[in-house]
Amino acid sequence: MSTKAVLNADLSRGKIDKAIYGQFAEHLGRCIYEGLWVGEDSSIPNTNGIRNDVLGALKDLNIPVLRWPGGCFADEYHWKDGVGPKTERKRMVNTHWGGVVENNHFGTHEFMKLCEMLETEPYVNGNVGSGTVQEMADWVEYMTFDGESPMANWRKENGQEEPWKLKYFGVGNENWGCGGNMRPEYYADLYRRYQTYVRNYSGNEIYKIAGGPNIDDYNWTEVLMREAKEHMDGLSLHYYVHPGGFWNKGDAVRFDSDDWHVSMQKAYHIETLIDKHSTIMDKYDPEKSVDLIVDEWGAWYDVEPGTNPGFLFQQNTVRDAVIAGISLNIFNNHNDRIKMANIAQMVNVIQSMVLTEDDKMLLTPTYHVFRMYNVHQDAERVDLDIESDMLEEAGVEYPKVNGSASKQSDGTLNVSLTNADKDSETTIDLNIRGIETSDVTGEFITSGKMNDHNTFDQPDKVKPETLTNFEKTANGLNVTLPPMSVAVLSIK
Ligand code: AHR
Repeated sequence: MSTKAVLNADLSRGKIDKAIYGQFAEHLGRCIYEGLWVGEDSSIPNTNGIRNDVLGALKDLNIPVLRWPGGCFADEYHWKDGVGPKTERKRMVNTHWGGVVENNHFGTHEFMKLCEMLETEPYVNGNVGSGTVQEMADWVEYMTFDGESPMANWRKENGQEEPWKLKYFGVGNENWGCGGNMRPEYYADLYRRYQTYVRNYSGNEIYKIAGGPNIDDYNWTEVLMREAKEHMDGLSLHYYVHPGGFWNKGDAVRFDSDDWHVSMQKAYHIETLIDKHSTIMDKYDPEKSVDLIVDEWGAWYDVEPGTNPGFLFQQNTVRDAVIAGISLNIFNNHNDRIKMANIAQMVNVIQSMVLTEDDKMLLTPTYHVFRMYNVHQDAERVDLDIESDMLEEAGVEYPKVNGSASKQSDGTLNVSLTNADKDSETTIDLNIRGIETSDVTGEFITSGKMNDHNTFDQPDKVKPETLTNFEKTANGLNVTLPPMSVAVLSIK
């Protein structure tokens, strides 16, 4: 039986903010060091200390925004230790992530250079948990003040004459947990105080993001919106899929059918969270002037056997491609409130785009989904209604098919679809209204087995292929998606 879907190409639902395709890079494991930063003197080919292979791959994703330096690391990071001559930079212990020594060689200047090379918007996350108001105020002054001031002068001494443009600034991270174990009332007051000194200098306008709830902590959202909404542009939300729960997450590769089903159901669950947090936000902010910023999301499993438990290094299978496809469709479809999302994390940590080993690099299945979906960036969302069957397995229930659609400025319609059924293909009877379907092309990603992934020996085991399994009908298209797949169709 086919899945029925109606695509109303002329029913616009607002812009899909390109920042939904954002990334996150923390000082954690081998994300920054080794994964991105190897230093100018490395034998690994690099530009300004950033490895060329990773840079090239990431550039092809059109990354719109990059969040840094954490995560939990952000509330222990003292930015002044990470500027000036590298040999004089203070070393610190990264207590959250493996207890390793952080030499601070990658700091503000290196991050801003990386953003410049990626042509991406920087999103800097400040320290509320263990930092002072003065320290946060100084950082903003250092980065953005044009003219004569103690911090601007110091920046110039350190080699950066012009201030940087900085749009996004986060005031603390997970302040209900690693960012200070605060109660929402206390954090709301601290947020109001700290953000006061996050100033707009020299024509730079900062978009302020308040640390938001963990998963379904609706009381956190309620208190923050009630007490501080007029001082924020965005409120963050963090949600991870861990099939076995937080303490025993499950293996990234060696998983079974039940794990598949639970993972899919947990991927879909983010829609419930978005709906419920949005309902609370609507109560305090019916005009939707505060955005929901999902600045950490992804599938988080146990670390690869034999690797440092504090480094969060995991493989990435076709399951992760489907989880990414489902999540991005959900974000697109909630573009009225969600204006940014940042997958965790960009390199070598949790659900990464690329994995590295010495001088080798591979692209993950998740990378390919991001590349396929980037046609939605800043495109106009159009109405897509899917009547999906529900799959009931392993005590959970979830839709077989999900999707989203948007129209680019040249009129090209892009439809992204997922088939979460790992055993059966599905045919979608897509009724297309408001556009003639003259020229249709497509791409999809799947693999023979749900555990398939890319390795340094077989880097292209899971990769996109051209979609040919569709035919025009009187009303639109019939599209057949293979089991456990993600597809993007372009209709001109
Ligand atoms: O992404 C890994 C960690 O998950 C982040 O540092 C923290 O914010 C979250 O708990």
